[in-house]
Amino acid sequence: MSAALKMAPEAPTPILQCQGIGKRFGGLVALSEVDFTIGAGEVVALLGDNGAGKSTLVKVISGVFPPDSGRVMLGGRELRASSPMDVRDQGIETVFQDLALCDNLGAAENIFLGRELEYKRLGLFRELDQARMKREAKKVLDDMHIRIRDLDAPVRTMSGGQRQAVAISRAVYWKAKLMILDEPTAALGVPEQKKVLDLIRNLKSRNVPVIVISHNMQDVFEVADRAFVMRRGRAVADIKISETTPRDVVSMMIG
Ligand SMILES: Nc1ncnc2c1ncn2[C@@H]1O[C@H](COP(=O)(O)OP(=O)(O)O)[C@@H](O)[C@H]1O
Ligand SMILES: [Mg+2]
Repeated sequence: MSAALKMAPEAPTPILQCQGIGKRFGGLVALSEVDFTIGAGEVVALLGDNGAGKSTLVKVISGVFPPDSGRVMLGGRELRASSPMDVRDQGIETVFQDLALCDNLGAAENIFLGRELEYKRLGLFRELDQARMKREAKKVLDDMHIRIRDLDAPVRTMSGGQRQAVAISRAVYWKAKLMILDEPTAALGVPEQKKVLDLIRNLKSRNVPVIVISHNMQDVFEVADRAFVMRRGRAVADIKISETTPRDVVSMMIG
């Protein structure tokens, strides 16, 4: 048999594929022809200088706004997104740069936000099964080694790291197909940053792929498998972390 006929082992279906994504804001081209892929259990760092288009790409994937061109595929099928909640229901859990928790609600309520467990009682009346939601929330938080003393305390009273942890727990509880974290450690102290990195590793060990945006090269090199580098709305590199250095990545970012 000739060497040319030997086929490479088939790559597993990527979880998420962005194909030729373009997005403009008026005259400004925020994204241009961006192709991006992530597979099960991969951690990909999305990198680039301020204004490179990282958050815009995340927002297109998460259904905040549609792309002007291109498409997003989830599990081999085109993702039709009518809203961020719809995309979350389809399995993409995003922690936006401006965090997506309800400040006035507690950890348990945030984990079940928009997906409250109901039980029917005596015919017409539907009630929320608060006790069960709290039990389940406690279980998932314990499972992730996250300690939150009072599950009813509004998340506004929690530290940044605890808030991240609640958001990540929500992804785990609802078995997200993909987790996206836009600058999760930016506002955190060092011990909390480490905790978030642990949570990312925890997701990876559950085979959940993670896209993480961070300016902290040390974090990136500690936790990511791959760096996807953007500059002025374009992808300029897609490289294994093991095959690059922080210095090279920074020079790719600034061009
Ligand atoms: N809603 C918006 N309206 C207008 N311009 C925007 C909007 N969101 C982002 N931009 C612009 O798009 C470009 C990319 O922004 P962004 O994706 O937030 O970059 P990054 O997250 O990499 O810092 C920037 O020039 C930014 O000013
Ligand atoms: Mg951003």
